[in-house]
Amino acid sequence: MDIPWGSEISNKFITNIGLITTTGPHGQDVMAAEWTHHVSYRPGLIAVSVGPSHATHENIAQTEEFGISICSTDQTVLSSVSGGYSAREYDKISALQELGFEFYPAKTIKTLMVKGACANIECRLFKTIPLGDHTMFVGEATEGVSDATKEPLSYHAGKYWKMSMNLPKPSQQEREKIRSILEKYRRQEGRQH
Ligand SMILES: Cc1cc2nc3c(=O)[nH]c(=O)nc-3n(C[C@H](O)[C@H](O)[C@H](O)COP(=O)(O)O)c2cc1C
Repeated sequence: MDIPWGSEISNKFITNIGLITTTGPHGQDVMAAEWTHHVSYRPGLIAVSVGPSHATHENIAQTEEFGISICSTDQTVLSSVSGGYSAREYDKISALQELGFEFYPAKTIKTLMVKGACANIECRLFKTIPLGDHTMFVGEATEGVSDATKEPLSYHAGKYWKMSMNLPKPSQQEREKIRSILEKYRRQEGRQH
């Protein structure tokens, strides 16, 4: 079955917004991607799923590098502009600069990074995986910084959200009860998964 954009199932996911920055055949570009995931610690790998018609797709395929700026709660306009217009038609970077957003040159790759994001990760292409109607580009981090004063923007059901309430993990008492129940169901040693 399909799980289309805006469907009830699709709307149950909560994600970050990654701002993918590239410089390639379509010039300098920034695109919003809710499908931005940290997928490995060592090495640090970041996966983004990009539609094949997007300018970003060709920019990454040609240059084999991209930047990821994790959008902060005060960058909703930046996300909407990056995700609402294509570099095939517009110079989004210049428009965003006129709107007051700032960029700086990456250290290890030839693209721009977004100022004021909560984390900025420069990536060299590690793997390209065609997956359904998108392509997953997995990037290996070559440089990364984060800003402790910024909060990551959340995206859910087509809307922006701010994380405001931290829920407690199970209490010591609950953990002890869980542990005693799990011990009743411990598998025999040597059992195959
Ligand atoms: C909040 C938001 C999240 C988005 N997430 C994705 C995504 O994960 N993958 C994708 O291919 N497009 C996503 N898009 C759509 C692209 O950002 C959009 O098509 C953009 O215009 C592509 O720009 P480009 O052609 O300059 O690369 C998203 C758009 C918005 C507004």
